[in-house]
Amino acid sequence: MHSAKRRILVGVTGGIAAYKICELVRRLRDRDVEVRVVMTEGATHFVTPTTFQALSGQPVRVSLWDEAGEAAMGHIELARWAERVIVAPASADTIARLAHGFANDLLSTVVLATAAPVFVAPAMNQQMWAHPAVQANVATLRQRGVTILGPADGDQACGDIGSGRLLEPNELRDALMASFNNRTLAGTRVVVSAGPTYEDLDPVRFIGNRSSGRMGFAVAAAAREAGADVTLIAGPVSLPTPYGVHRVDVRSARQMHEAVLSQSQNADIYVGAAAVGDYRPDSTASEKLKKQEGQPLRLELAENPDIIGSLAAMPTHPFLVGFAAETQSVADYAQAKLQRKGLDMIAANDVSAGRGFEQTNNALHVYWADGDAVLPDMPKTELARQLVTLVAERYRHARKSNS
Ligand code: PMT
Repeated sequence: MHSAKRRILVGVTGGIAAYKICELVRRLRDRDVEVRVVMTEGATHFVTPTTFQALSGQPVRVSLWDEAGEAAMGHIELARWAERVIVAPASADTIARLAHGFANDLLSTVVLATAAPVFVAPAMNQQMWAHPAVQANVATLRQRGVTILGPADGDQACGDIGSGRLLEPNELRDALMASFNNRTLAGTRVVVSAGPTYEDLDPVRFIGNRSSGRMGFAVAAAAREAGADVTLIAGPVSLPTPYGVHRVDVRSARQMHEAVLSQSQNADIYVGAAAVGDYRPDSTASEKLKKQEGQPLRLELAENPDIIGSLAAMPTHPFLVGFAAETQSVADYAQAKLQRKGLDMIAANDVSAGRGFEQTNNALHVYWADGDAVLPDMPKTELARQLVTLVAERYRHARKSNS
């Protein structure tokens, strides 16, 4: 069994800023945190494992092939042991390897194997930081729910001035400790729907929409990070499942409807981030519809079930958070939906001019019965964290007023 202390795995990679991590380890231990350090081979050229062993009070691991180390606490146990993993300083090389799922050293293997929230604190020359390849790798990590800490601007060891400095040890410590406080959904069960629905016309064609699932997947990851037991009901998307989240894949609105109702039986909160198709072809052909030259194809569309609306109509149902995708009169339409569908909250997003769908960033205006909040444009991973914090507050408020 693990002690009640918080458990943070600190991954150190090769960069001159590695010396600052000695201070980070000390400051974490001052907060009664159990720290284990894993170093890349490169990091050992800047700081010795002996230094980190003295500071952490734990054996330091470098190699996957360290038989004694693997016998003591293997890489999978290390990954399970950690409640948080921080890679600091994170070199451009390590960021690239993490973004591409490499597992050719102990640190990258542990990052792949852990279900804990991962933090990456980049540190490199400002020109390297600005390089499109580095920026693309960082964006990939962000989209997978990794929290990127920094970098800071300022003068660099190489004499340059610009963005690329490692954040200060106390800033890294504060970010890590704050993430433990965000246990706002501990003990709750949350169901999230995400992505589009596909309504098949024939074995080849379907009616769908542009939802990529990113918003809903980010909400699921943020809810899990806030301590909830999360079930994610995903339409057809090509996204990795966020760590620690149960996933149910569906295709059509009716399949999503069935999955949401069954998974929401004993859920505390439902977040409808999915772009559910309102209509489907009134029949699906078993063979590919042959094109009749010069003849238009006319479709008769039948109405799909209103998933969140049917939850709201139940005598007992989860706390309901809808999304509203609007291209005009966003506030009016969203607030009307809040009332009409009988929801507890609605997150409105303006999806005109290419916004919302598929984008890495989004902005939300969140409404509830007696208030609202604007969450400005930011990456969906961070936006989802802020939405989840709001939902947790309103959920607790609703529970208090219903008790
Ligand atoms: O997936 P991304 O590419 O990241 O894009 C994110 C998003 C734009 C899809 C997301 O932010 C969003 O707005 N999702 C809701 C899209 C939508 O269907 O909005 P709506 O206004 O049509 O529906 C309102 C609410 O009713 C939504 O919670 C929706 O899930 C729900 N609904 C709608 C229709 C239906 N038949 N059943 C439902 O439950």
